[in-house]
Amino acid sequence: SMAGLFLKDTEPMAHTITDIRINPLSDVMGAEVIGLDLRQTIAPADKARLLEAFTQYHLLCFRDQSLTKHEQIEATKQFGELDVHVQSNRSSDIPLIHIVTNLDQNDVPRQAIAAKGSVHWHSDKSYRAVPSLATFLYGVEVPDEGGETEFANMAMAFEALPAARQAELSGLKVVHSWPDSVRRTNNREATDEEKANWPPIAQPLARTHPESGRKAIFIGQHASYIEGREAEGRALIEELEAWCTQPQFRYAHRWRVGDLLMWDNRCLLHRAASFDGDRYRRLMHRTVTRGSAPF
Ligand code: SIN
Repeated sequence: SMAGLFLKDTEPMAHTITDIRINPLSDVMGAEVIGLDLRQTIAPADKARLLEAFTQYHLLCFRDQSLTKHEQIEATKQFGELDVHVQSNRSSDIPLIHIVTNLDQNDVPRQAIAAKGSVHWHSDKSYRAVPSLATFLYGVEVPDEGGETEFANMAMAFEALPAARQAELSGLKVVHSWPDSVRRTNNREATDEEKANWPPIAQPLARTHPESGRKAIFIGQHASYIEGREAEGRALIEELEAWCTQPQFRYAHRWRVGDLLMWDNRCLLHRAASFDGDRYRRLMHRTVTRGSAPF
């Protein structure tokens, strides 16, 4: 046999060949990963395959996971340095885990809480000088209908633009601003601490993906104005968001209990789709890894 050419009978196999399957979820993005238990240390060869798939598909769905909060933190650390959450819609006993849910303090599902979810297209922590790289969202309880997480492929949307438009956008900077974002979305003033932590930051409007070299439009909820074009306000940002979130650039993830989604904030926008929040329970645990400064 072929193996006989390399291995003597007495030698153990150098690697355990694991049976991980990676199946595409759509033509736009996404692949499911089957046969991997993230409580285990990922073997280097598997890790390389997963990172390659992450660059190719932008979103991985690890199926059938069973993770405590601590296990999710450890699983996340296998892919990068954890980013600390500052605000939360519900106090979490473990600050590194952000709870995303419509359940109230008495564990009762409430539409009023569901409505406060992330319904606007955004890229996580895009208002920071160093935004998040990957977000890990783990489905503990998921609704029977609705409540998908929707994604837009900002690299595909950029590449579908005419070359002249691509060149024009590549020369522009977009200012992401937490204070503007909370004023517009939450109708409140940022605190002094928030203002000090996250001053407005100018980012490339077409950011380059460090792994693939592809450019992706970097906008979303926290994008405030185009540098040097303050008078236009958000006009171009909104025009681009409408372009990028067309159906042909989108994928909606229909949740199954035990899914751990890992997505790339460098080239995707996301938002939560609505659901009947008085009827269904939705509970997710979120962790994020730190990225690098966009260029
Ligand atoms: C998020 O924006 O991180 C949460 C998305 C969701 O609730 O589906």
